[in-house]
Amino acid sequence: MFKKTLLITALVITATVSVKAQSKTPVYLDDSKSIQARVEDALSRMNLQEKINMIHAQSKFSSPGVPRLGIPDNWTDDGPHGIRPDVLWDQWVQAGQTNDSCMAFPALTCLAATWNKDMALLYGNAIGEEARYRNKNVLLAPGVNIYRSPLNGRNFEYMGEDPFLSSKIVVPYIKGVQQNGVAACVKHFALNNSEGNRHTVNVNVDDRTLYEIYLPAFKAAVQEGGAMAIMGSYNLYKGEHCCHNQYLLNDILRKEWGFEGVVISDWGGTHDTNQAIFNGLDMEFGTGTNGLSYSKTNVYDNYYMAMPYLKLIQSGKVGTKELDEKVRRILRLSFLTTMNKNRPLGSLGSEEHALAARKIADEGIVLLKNKGNILPINLKTTKRIAVIGENAIKWMTVGGGSSSLKARYEITPLEGLKKRIGNQAEIVYARGYVGDTTGNYNGVITGQHLGDERSPAELIKEAVEAARKADLVIFVGGLNKSDHQDAEGTDRLSLNLPYDQDKLITELAKANKNLVVVNVSGNAVAMPWINQVPAIVQGWFLGSESGNALAGVLTGDVNPSGKLTFTFPVKLSDNGAQALGEFPGSKTEVTYKEGIYVGYRWAEEHKIKPLFAFGHGLSYTTFQYGNVTVDSKSMTASGKVTLSVNVKNTGSREGEEVVQLYISDLKSSVPRPVKELKGFEKISLKPGEQKLVSFTVDSTALSFFDAAKHQWVAEPGDFAALIGAASDDIRTKTVFSLK
Ligand code: BGC
Repeated sequence: MFKKTLLITALVITATVSVKAQSKTPVYLDDSKSIQARVEDALSRMNLQEKINMIHAQSKFSSPGVPRLGIPDNWTDDGPHGIRPDVLWDQWVQAGQTNDSCMAFPALTCLAATWNKDMALLYGNAIGEEARYRNKNVLLAPGVNIYRSPLNGRNFEYMGEDPFLSSKIVVPYIKGVQQNGVAACVKHFALNNSEGNRHTVNVNVDDRTLYEIYLPAFKAAVQEGGAMAIMGSYNLYKGEHCCHNQYLLNDILRKEWGFEGVVISDWGGTHDTNQAIFNGLDMEFGTGTNGLSYSKTNVYDNYYMAMPYLKLIQSGKVGTKELDEKVRRILRLSFLTTMNKNRPLGSLGSEEHALAARKIADEGIVLLKNKGNILPINLKTTKRIAVIGENAIKWMTVGGGSSSLKARYEITPLEGLKKRIGNQAEIVYARGYVGDTTGNYNGVITGQHLGDERSPAELIKEAVEAARKADLVIFVGGLNKSDHQDAEGTDRLSLNLPYDQDKLITELAKANKNLVVVNVSGNAVAMPWINQVPAIVQGWFLGSESGNALAGVLTGDVNPSGKLTFTFPVKLSDNGAQALGEFPGSKTEVTYKEGIYVGYRWAEEHKIKPLFAFGHGLSYTTFQYGNVTVDSKSMTASGKVTLSVNVKNTGSREGEEVVQLYISDLKSSVPRPVKELKGFEKISLKPGEQKLVSFTVDSTALSFFDAAKHQWVAEPGDFAALIGAASDDIRTKTVFSLK
């Protein structure tokens, strides 16, 4: 034993001596050099095996750096609503750490509903700080797939139906994340608009629709946000999986948009070595697993971009040019993140992050209806409140797929209301219905005991009795994060609320006319009881601060200012994809026959009155819009016009309003939507105060994508500028022309 140790020591010493001590910093560590020089230097020191290692995973969420050169591993993590807790190295099982609980931020649907770019920056920075603190350098977020149908299970992770709005919100989110030395990996590129057949479905979409509806938010993420990474989606386009897709990745992303960052596969989204080599993929993750339902372990050497790629190179069948390009891009990302010496240290679960989560939730909650001003709750006259519904007591941060979290805490709506109202009124709670009682996702357990053996009739009876005796009833229901609701991997089966909530709400409305319905969801739901319910609030999934934020809006501490980012149709067939029988399509094909007519574009084209329109959201105060003025009645192709409108708070309390600009092409050679969002501004006004809101637009706001010419075209002629408080509430308009 003794001898052996000696021998080893001797060997080590010999080896060290033969290496020759280096006193100079290698170029790749000298941060006064350009990143390009450092990348080339590091690349030149790597051997073939090290390069191959770098382009695929070594564990569920990490890929190797170069240990020999001190280049750190890359650590990814979900995203997008908080930093996901760690699983074991090679298993979908919780690592059981005690230091990985995060602040849960509101879902991206809520962020977008703030219509506030400052909130997106606040969000991105806070989640970026949490990622940094947890030593993750690639955040698998944000998601910007367009809301094409209210049945898509994953809409809650995205930013709604409008490409312009998503483009404006995604940019500050990315900047906020990346200023922490963490790469944002915007996802899922592209056309991942349903969950059911996501691994097998080939999306057929015409070029105009692709460019006008489904690509703009990704383009903004890349070109304006400077996203360091992008995730390929599971589905196919033109017959190729999107993680290695010639058209999307090489032609559009890299050639047209000049993307220099890293393309990362979705987990298990790689299917072919040859395509992966040549069609734009840089990093392969999750192969051999399909998320959580099955999971082979230790397959990393068999990844499409591992041994199979290495063998092709060694046998001379492919060269190393593509490999070097991939490694260059990954190294560049490392120099901007893990190897950036100026990278801040990050923070986790701080008070600032709680305040950020709360502020975003406050601004995103949407007051949909408030007949007779029954909200905010009048605590002088309301002495007994019945809170009813499972979502008043259920944790929502656990479940729903990869965005599931291990939150430090989550204030439920009932807790929030009790805390806020204290002894100003008595609060009684009745369950009303039993939905999902599991409280467990992938080993993260809420610890809530939600089981209830009573029959639906007994639950309704108890709830109705409580409602009858109360001055005010607050029903908190909606969807949850279990399968076929707001959850990854499955789509919803119906627009209606699950667990017979429609019946319960109808009974409650009969028992007490002072009924407030809070809908917790990331999707539109049908409201067959709408005429019986005076007040409706869209509550989203609000994260750790849920209950506090809802209580703030319901009691009037916070004046609601959120606006819908997607249309609430009355019925499913009022949605284009559904009307044309193209959602979700077959297992292998779906055709976006509705084309550019998504969301409000469809409703307006077909003169369908929605339940609640895109952009809709009420306040506890009122706003009066003056007449829009335009600085010039005509503009040239390279010119601009500025549209201005005075908005005044005519109510008695301070409030925020989202002033929306829509453009309508009055005569065009191609069919165009009735109008399209091209500007918005959120302003805060004290009672009686007024502000001038101005929008400057250039010809991009007037253009459509001409597929034949493959370019954006603004046709000379007249355009209407429509300014208002919602897509169906235009208050003032003017006309100008493009020369
Ligand atoms: C999801 C991605 C996620 C990844 C890693 C996939 O199933 O589609 O959005 O980032 O898993 O958890």
